[in-house]
Amino acid sequence: MKGIIERYRSRLPVTDKTPIVTLNEGSTPLVRADLIAASVGLTAGSVFLKCEGSNPTGSFKDRGMTVAISKALEAGAKGVICASTGNTAASAAAYAARAGLRCVIFVPKAGVALGKLAQAIMHGAQIVEVRGNFDKALSIALGRAKDLGYTVVNSVNPHRIEGQKTAAFEIVEELGSPPDFHFLPVGNAGNITAYWKGYCEFADKRPRMMGFQAAGAAPLVLGRPVKDPKTVASAIRIGNPACREGALRARDESDGAIESVTDAEILSAYRLLAKAEGVFCEPASAASVAGLLKCGRHKVPLFGKIVCTLTGHGLKDPQTPLGFKHRRLTYAAGAKRLPLARKP
Ligand code: F0G
Repeated sequence: MKGIIERYRSRLPVTDKTPIVTLNEGSTPLVRADLIAASVGLTAGSVFLKCEGSNPTGSFKDRGMTVAISKALEAGAKGVICASTGNTAASAAAYAARAGLRCVIFVPKAGVALGKLAQAIMHGAQIVEVRGNFDKALSIALGRAKDLGYTVVNSVNPHRIEGQKTAAFEIVEELGSPPDFHFLPVGNAGNITAYWKGYCEFADKRPRMMGFQAAGAAPLVLGRPVKDPKTVASAIRIGNPACREGALRARDESDGAIESVTDAEILSAYRLLAKAEGVFCEPASAASVAGLLKCGRHKVPLFGKIVCTLTGHGLKDPQTPLGFKHRRLTYAAGAKRLPLARKP
């Protein structure tokens, strides 16, 4: 499949003069999740997972990055810069490498999952570890961008939002109409802003936007910034979202909600997705499904078609599963019996 710029050229801010930097992102699978549908009392074929981990660098960021990096190249940028909890960094590093641009990333020290760090290293980005959280890293990145004359590729860059809105286009095309509800995790709040823009531009009927933050990092639910955000879902460990206004608009205009889910609820959805649906996403991504399951438990009236975005691939974060209790067998050469438990 072609990348999202070729697929939706007329709806994106590019011209014939824009040098397109693409890794053929987008066109990600929309997978039926019948077991999850049943757990919230819905019929088979009503819940779908938009598996954004199938993008080239393993997260939804690639949709925005193909546009942001292409436009940076067109504008003659010397380099690009961002703050990140990991996925933006990995995506920026890959697209900058392809464009021949320098890439500087600011990440919270010890706050980035291993797979994401590995990607940034491999693509040759300059990694700067910040003692502090994402919010601090973002304010440093925005300041340094001016001194260096580099283009910021966080979601405060409107080209990122433009690219990311294409996920909504794909969903409408594949379902034949927009879903009734759209669940997604919320961190810096660019993605919920982008989906809402996409639905508004592409369809008359629009879903209720249901955003979920981690309970220990839920500034939009509390209505104030969180100084020291805490959650197992490192990707959304953010206390002061830059795209706050867009997220609140999406919530209010769609008659939706922005709520929180606990780490226990996130991890439970994370395991359920892997074990029951065969879909391995990273912990932050499971906040969308955790939110849907919470709505089911709280008897929120759900109906029609429901989409949950799974924002990043499970392999991004190999540490979290290794921390779960599990049994590994050792097979001694020559042993007669494999000591399998009756119920693995
Ligand atoms: N899920 C994953 C896997 C993410 O990496 C992010 C954000 C989100 C959800 C939330 O999206 O910020 O648009 O509300 N990651 C950013 C990063 C902050 O630096 O990679 P959002």
